[in-house]
Amino acid sequence: MEKSDVRPQWSSRMPFIFAAVGSAVGLGNIWRFPYMAGENGGAAFVLIYVAFVVLIGLPVLIAELTIGRRGRMSPITSIRNVAEESNSSKRWGWIGHLSSLGGGLGLLAFYSVIAGWVLAYIIKAGSGMFLGFTAADSAAALDELYASTPVMAFWHFVFIAVTVYIVGKGINAGLEKAVTYLMPVLFLLLLMLAGYSMATGEFLAALHYLFAPDFSKLTGEVVLNAVGQAFFSLSLALGTMVAYGAYLPKSISIHRSATLIAAADTGVALIAGMAIFPLVFAYGLNPGSGPDLIFKTLPIAFGQMPGGAIFGMLFFILLAIAAVTSSISMLEPAVAYFEERQDMNRWKSAIFGGGIAFLIGLLTVFTQNDLAEFHPLASFGIEMDFFQLNNFIVSNLIMPIGALLLAIFVGWQVKRNVLRDELGLPEGGIFAIWHVLIKFFCPVAIIAILISGLA
Ligand code: ALA
Repeated sequence: MEKSDVRPQWSSRMPFIFAAVGSAVGLGNIWRFPYMAGENGGAAFVLIYVAFVVLIGLPVLIAELTIGRRGRMSPITSIRNVAEESNSSKRWGWIGHLSSLGGGLGLLAFYSVIAGWVLAYIIKAGSGMFLGFTAADSAAALDELYASTPVMAFWHFVFIAVTVYIVGKGINAGLEKAVTYLMPVLFLLLLMLAGYSMATGEFLAALHYLFAPDFSKLTGEVVLNAVGQAFFSLSLALGTMVAYGAYLPKSISIHRSATLIAAADTGVALIAGMAIFPLVFAYGLNPGSGPDLIFKTLPIAFGQMPGGAIFGMLFFILLAIAAVTSSISMLEPAVAYFEERQDMNRWKSAIFGGGIAFLIGLLTVFTQNDLAEFHPLASFGIEMDFFQLNNFIVSNLIMPIGALLLAIFVGWQVKRNVLRDELGLPEGGIFAIWHVLIKFFCPVAIIAILISGLA
């Protein structure tokens, strides 16, 4: 078995929780959740998403952390190690390839473009340009950004460079500390924003939109989008949680930590919804307007509130930080693997992985103008631009398929006593519930969702 005892570890439970929550909480909650809810009809999507977090996301999260801590290496090698320990085929390690390389780097590619927009908005907010903004001004400001490929490419590059730098330096006390202080400030600011938006916007309309389901809006596609959102938001099937589990001291309870991570992540998404939708309705914006939603909505709020330039700037700074604490977790699994396998040091691995993501991400940058009408798979009847395709392949294919294979591996291949030992749980009770979910419910549900969503 390939094992190493010299791996770094989280110094205690808190830094691990903050790093894992930092990975989970990011653009997925504040940028993606509101627009996905808007595009998929609101409350029915939200309820299904929350149900999937509990019934599928949480069991898979527990499984990923368990495999990581048991295997103690990169996700690919950890899965192989655990397979070997259970006398199963090392080929299960391919789940690690799919997640770390396809999922992690594939997601980083477009994630960093959106994070680049956030960086650009720090400057816009700080300059005071949002003052007195109407919905039309806000749309025009975004169009101005879209019109400039070099500006978007520049911020995309800056964001990737920061991600590469942090990952290159390794799991360090600086990062742990930064996350520990900054995440609570982000929560606080988001709460303030939600409070402001609820007080001044259409609170009841938002509440109704997010929480009064109209199940006639449910389609196979909406359900697939909801499961994709649950995986995206919890950073599942990216190799991330396996990689973070590998740094987890044995004394920490996996199931308790996972529950806390899932609760915090979902809470932030719902609060973000309550920060965005009262404004969407107050200013007559279209909730289904897609990935632009927060960039069109929030500047109006910052433009109206007292001290909006400062708050706006602070908000986008913290959003950028939340994005970095997620992006490093997307790069880490591939880097851990390159480092182990390909005879590369950590810096070279980080630059190589970041470089791949940067190049793929440029296509998303071009999609905002020059390639806006380019639909690469149009000849197969798939009318998506490159950005939509990248988002769809990662969130609606790689993530569900990766999670499905992992659930099958953990449920059917890994020995029960290995799992119990790593989770520190006795037979029965929580262990039994989790095992039934991961062995039967998750695979069956994910297969059904994939089939109905794709059909
Ligand atoms: N889990 C990360 C996010 O939500 C990817 O942004």
